[in-house]
Parts: sequence; C-alpha cells; structure tokens
Amino acid sequence: MTLAIVSAMHEELAAVLALLPHESRQQVAGREFWRGRLHGQEVVAVLSRIGKVAAATTATLLVERFAADRIVFTGVAGGLGPGVEVGHVVVADGFLQHDLDASPLFPRHEVPLYGISRFPTDPALTARLAAAAARALPGTPVHRGLVVSGDRFVATGAESRALQAALPDALAVEMEGAAIAQVCHDCGVAFAAVRTVSDRADDQAHVDFSRFVREVASRHSAAIVRELLA
Ligand code: ADE
Repeated sequence: MTLAIVSAMHEELAAVLALLPHESRQQVAGREFWRGRLHGQEVVAVLSRIGKVAAATTATLLVERFAADRIVFTGVAGGLGPGVEVGHVVVADGFLQHDLDASPLFPRHEVPLYGISRFPTDPALTARLAAAAARALPGTPVHRGLVVSGDRFVATGAESRALQAALPDALAVEMEGAAIAQVCHDCGVAFAAVRTVSDRADDQAHVDFSRFVREVASRHSAAIVRELLA
C-alpha cells in the first residue's frame, strides 16, 4: 500500500519533501521521486511539473513504477465560484477539462470515447482529505465540489467570467487535476485533491499567485498531509 503525494511546483511541496530522507530519491523521466515512511505509511512524493501532460505522465509513473494505489494532489488553484476566496481550501469531488472540446463530434468537455466529461474523485479518500484540511487549518472555509483543469493560467477577469458562465458549478481552476483523475480512472487507483486558493483567476491573478506560492502554499500542504497521515 503506497500513498503518492503530488504537487506541481516545488513551492507547493517543499515542507513535505523536507520530511523525507534525501537518500530515498530516485530519478525517473526527469522527475525526482522521494520514497519513505511517514507516520508508519509508505509514501512516494513527486513534483509533477505544470500542465495536464506532465501530470498524466507523473500519475502513470506513480502507478506503474512505484505501485501507488492512492494518489493525493496538494497545491494551489484559482478561485472561480462565488465566495471561493484567496486563502480558502477547495477539496475536489470531481474534475473536468475546461479546455477540451471535440465538438461537434462529441459534446463540449466530454472526453472522446469515454462518454463522460467529469471524473469523480474517490469518495472515502476525499472525505479523509477534507477532514484533514479542516483539522489542519482551523477557521479556514473548506469548499467541496467541481474543480476544472486546463493548459492555461487563467489571468483575466474576462476568461474567469467565461469559465463561470460555461461551468457554473466549478469552484476552482488549475492545470493538472483532471489529467490525474483520468489516469486514476483508467488504472483503478483512488484519487483525491486539495487546493488552497491562491488567486481569483482575474487580472490580479499572477501577482496574487506568486505571493501565495512563495509565502503560504508549502506550509498549508505540509499541515494537511500531516493530518491526513496522522
Ligand atoms: N493555479 C493557481 N491559480 C491558477 C489560475 N489562475 N489558473 C490556472 N491555474 C492556477
């Protein structure tokens, strides 16, 4: 039983990696996989890098080379839903690729030949992750619902509003989760994801994002992972 812990960027996972022994690092496909035991559980931690292809590659390696049977993603996202503000936490119930559109052959957002556009996360692991987030960050609002992914950093109010209009129940936007959800669906591996809101995906997003990942993201990830494993 190996739990994989994934973030896109070093700033999102630094404090978790610091808990794992240096000598356990293994390089595969240009990524460093850190293996070790945390709170008596086998874990493998890795930085996926940014975007859906990088995330899918990482998830596949975790399953095939590292025998991960559960994958937890922790990182940051842009808030989309009303009331999903900077500093809040979003735990994903499901993922969708907002930039996938093979219409008119298939409905917009549907993954061709899968017959679905939304990939649910694992309910039991997601419930544990949401409880861990609430314990780790007392007083912080924890939202549960749809998170959307695409190969775009959403950094204008206009694009954010277009996403909200097309996908009114989307709580947050990021660049990896839907890809990992699809790999986990294909491989029969449990997946859950938690994202702290770093920006509102608006004209200020790049400034807010940079400050948040520098100052807050890693600390939040470490606190949530610690509670998840406790
Ligand atoms: N991750 C964090 N903020 C984001 C944004 N505004 N767009 C895409 N991914 C993000």
